[in-house]
Amino acid sequence: MKKKLTGKTALVTGSSRGVGRLVAIALADLGCSTIFCHGRSEASCRETARQIESRGAKAVILPAELSDPAQVESLADRVLAAGGVDILYNNAAVMHPWRDSPEELSFEDWAWSFQVNVFALVMLTVRLLAPMKLKKWGRIINLTSGIDKTPQLAAYGASKWAVDKWTDDLAAALAGSGVIVSRLDPGWLKTDLGGPNADHEPEAVLPGALVPCLLPDDAPGGSFFRAQELRNFSLD
Ligand SMILES: NC(=O)c1ccc[n+]([C@@H]2O[C@H](COP(=O)([O-])OP(=O)(O)OC[C@H]3O[C@@H](n4cnc5c(N)ncnc54)[C@H](OP(=O)(O)O)[C@@H]3O)[C@@H](O)[C@H]2O)c1
Repeated sequence: MKKKLTGKTALVTGSSRGVGRLVAIALADLGCSTIFCHGRSEASCRETARQIESRGAKAVILPAELSDPAQVESLADRVLAAGGVDILYNNAAVMHPWRDSPEELSFEDWAWSFQVNVFALVMLTVRLLAPMKLKKWGRIINLTSGIDKTPQLAAYGASKWAVDKWTDDLAAALAGSGVIVSRLDPGWLKTDLGGPNADHEPEAVLPGALVPCLLPDDAPGGSFFRAQELRNFSLD
């Protein structure tokens, strides 16, 4: 793998496991110098950090519960105090339990889904934009989903729809700034969130998940990438 991101810094939310861990380690392989690992606890991030450091990059663990706005602010404060990041990989998300009908979704299902998957993502992004704009370079990747016509997971699905809408609006605001925001559907993967019946092993998210980090400076914002359509993308 060529070191196409030499010297860049990145925050990967939800990098204690699943897609986030794979992306964080792959960013180290691509030459990122510092990667901020995030999960809800320091212990959960240690293995990701170990694998990043074994590749010669620096790993900084920043725990935060994203349903708590104060912890989202604190996460942003800690990243900004370290100089901000070039790449913000908004990967962390929750999925409420399967409900047999839309009427069975609780207020908590809706609130939790939007708090973690939308509000935390938006607040973190707006806090971390300033240094990217100053440098006139940044890549923001928002994890979305191909979930469709699944009323049993309606609050999760709607939260991803909101992420899509936010990505569109943010892309318009960032046009010409050097900061490119994209969204990525990883495909249905056998992670803790995707479950054991998913179509693909977690590793199938690579290399596609890296494509929006590697966009040329004249690429349009708001693009929708599907990792499973990018399985043959060459990183060389
Ligand atoms: N897997 C799929 O099939 C699939 C399909 C479409 C889209 N996606 C999207 O892909 C992304 C990654 O999913 P995944 O399958 O890798 O999920 P995962 O294996 O369940 O990992 C979720 C990550 O998010 C963190 N997280 C969960 N709840 C959190 C909270 N309340 N506060 C802070 N961090 C929290 C977890 O940290 P802890 O270790 O602390 O819990 C973990 O690092 C998500 O945005 C998901 O919606 C996944």
